[in-house]
Amino acid sequence: MNSYIISETEFDPLKIRKNESIMCRGNGYMCIRASLEERYPEEKRGTFINGVFDGANGEVSELAVLPDTTRFDIYVDGERVFLTGKNHTGYSRTLDMETGEAVRVFTWESRAGKKIKFKFRSFVSQEKAHIAAYKAELSASESADVKIITGICGEAANTGVQHIGAPVRRVYENKTMGLYAKTLASCVDIAVHCSVKCSAGCTVSHLADRRSLYKCIEFTLGEKSVVTEKLVSYVSSRDPEYDGAEPGSDTVAGDGKKYLENACSLGYDALFNESAGKQRAYWKRHGDKIVSKNGFYDRALKFALYHLNIMTSQSDNRVGIGAKGMSGEGYKGHSYWDTEIFIMPHFMFTEPEKARRLLEYRFKLLKSALKKAERFGFKGAMYPWEAAWITDGETCPEYGDIDLLTGEARRNLMGEIEVHISADIAYAVWQYYTITGDTGFMESCGCEIILLTALFWCSRVTEKNGRLEILNVIGPDEYKDCVDNNAYTNYMAYFNLKLVSKIKDIIPKRLKEKYDCEKIVSAAKNTAERLYLPEANENGIIPQFDGYAELKPIDLSPYKNKSCVGLIFKDYGFSQIQKMQVSKQADTVMLFYLLSEMFDKKTVFDNFKFYEERTVHDSSLSMCIHALLAARLGIIEAAEKMFYKACSVDLGDTDNSDDGIHSASIGGIWLALAMGFCGLGCEDGVLSASPVLPVDWESFELCVEYRGALIKIGADAGGTFAERLCGDKTKIKLNGKYIEV
Ligand code: BGC
Repeated sequence: MNSYIISETEFDPLKIRKNESIMCRGNGYMCIRASLEERYPEEKRGTFINGVFDGANGEVSELAVLPDTTRFDIYVDGERVFLTGKNHTGYSRTLDMETGEAVRVFTWESRAGKKIKFKFRSFVSQEKAHIAAYKAELSASESADVKIITGICGEAANTGVQHIGAPVRRVYENKTMGLYAKTLASCVDIAVHCSVKCSAGCTVSHLADRRSLYKCIEFTLGEKSVVTEKLVSYVSSRDPEYDGAEPGSDTVAGDGKKYLENACSLGYDALFNESAGKQRAYWKRHGDKIVSKNGFYDRALKFALYHLNIMTSQSDNRVGIGAKGMSGEGYKGHSYWDTEIFIMPHFMFTEPEKARRLLEYRFKLLKSALKKAERFGFKGAMYPWEAAWITDGETCPEYGDIDLLTGEARRNLMGEIEVHISADIAYAVWQYYTITGDTGFMESCGCEIILLTALFWCSRVTEKNGRLEILNVIGPDEYKDCVDNNAYTNYMAYFNLKLVSKIKDIIPKRLKEKYDCEKIVSAAKNTAERLYLPEANENGIIPQFDGYAELKPIDLSPYKNKSCVGLIFKDYGFSQIQKMQVSKQADTVMLFYLLSEMFDKKTVFDNFKFYEERTVHDSSLSMCIHALLAARLGIIEAAEKMFYKACSVDLGDTDNSDDGIHSASIGGIWLALAMGFCGLGCEDGVLSASPVLPVDWESFELCVEYRGALIKIGADAGGTFAERLCGDKTKIKLNGKYIEV
């Protein structure tokens, strides 16, 4: 079984959206959903450029769906090619994650009984960030007249919300098509170019349809196959190449045309070889694998690595990672705590320069965070719960869906009171520093983030009951609004405050001149000392928030382990759920993953069991953390089961990936394996690991980049192993013992 392959062997219209997401192709600069060539009512096409957000039409800033180039309208003897349940055979579609290419084949039968063989191939270049390529190969059992219409469709919209203005369109020398538009509110210039060529003698014309431009190719098809090659380029004025400059629409258009011409001089095959070579080089450094009877685990791991790679910019520190990467318009392309807590550890341990850029993005958001704090009457940096472009500020919509009874939109309080994100970011800064030892980063960005987030907590606490408390928050469990002393928030704030004393000797002069650092250091110390940290009650349970123990426990069995999310809302309203012991996702137990040194094993075990029984895992962020903790607790069988569920979030038989993959859960697959089963960590600047092997697995291994060395760590029937693949000799701690690799 080839773990690099994701496939479908039957055409199922109800799977169109999910497969558009999970088979999406990209390169960190842009992503293109894996839409089918023909049109179907279920489709949701989407092409995205990292950082191209727009907030027109009363929407908060969202990642804009850009003009589409994936569509091929094909007619055979005047009949449109369109798959139904009966008119085709030999259907298969695969995404080969090893090369990044998608291949789709089927034989379609016309009403007149002619059989036409189709083979579509496509990829987004790993080497040339702006380029994507498509190829359609057709042959027929008997002579048929074929017409292919394809080009650039500018009807793009985010579920009906238009973000792209009326385009200007040009055809150059009867060859290259160009479509130019601006996003409506953010005024980002977009240039899409496209060239289509056909291997057979054909009649060619161009069509200008509303907002779109197409090429129409007509030829007579026989047994000899005819190949149509389509190359496209996407450019935006927000591209990292233009950072700091206002390129102007002519430059954007000119560059896009140049990129396309250059790609055309190579053609599909050469572009593909170049791109696949780069993709293979990626896999060489990311040789992680799980060998088990159930090959699903290894595929899920490759799937996670594939998506982690395409969702993350290779060079731009002005963009984050969306909760759906760029695989769909879900969560509006916004970055959440998902990045720091679920995704970033992977990069810290494998490609630290990417982790650094992601943290630099948070540094660039500091201005917004200071402004947000001021708006709510606090000091320091109150990070946006949802972030888009670096100057967009808080992008969490103030209102959510309507209450079906009253028709009134429900107030969304996350942007105001889901404040743990500030501590999560500070945590990631410190984690990055301890893993990489990157003092340059601390000097330029890290110290300032830690100081200003700590300052925020100093002002966010309330004097109550003779101590400092954090009131009116939403913790990770979003099924509970407006709670006091959410354990997760309080402990993470405490950690954030304590970091100030850890960095006090490396605070750069620049910051000492800018802020009264001594005052911040002492305020952080005093606040940390007096901050209330909820402790375990007589049953050993740390209350998720004040009054949790008094809430009603209910039988969650009808809602757990179901493929459908939010099932509990069929029986209970939001206000009822507030009064019940039910959590959407890992909340208190997150602490045992992040701040494990603060808790003893019994507390971890008791709380893990208690809260897991009360968690419906309605968030894709939940199962991976439970798997990780179960592995750390040594309950390996349970850990494996949970890991299976975590791996199934996008790859399982559900439709909850229709709007895009779940990037935190994908990061979580790696997390559960690396920081759970492999016990990966960093102790006093030394890489540590304590791998445990589930009984059904033959072996697993991970490739970790640590301070310049590439190290393979894992376990097999012979025990655990660590081996240096390249770089300098390194001391590591394996199963509690220091060894040199
Ligand atoms: C979860 C959040 C998460 C967000 C984006 C929500 O459903 O509750 O924890 O940050 O999705 O993934």
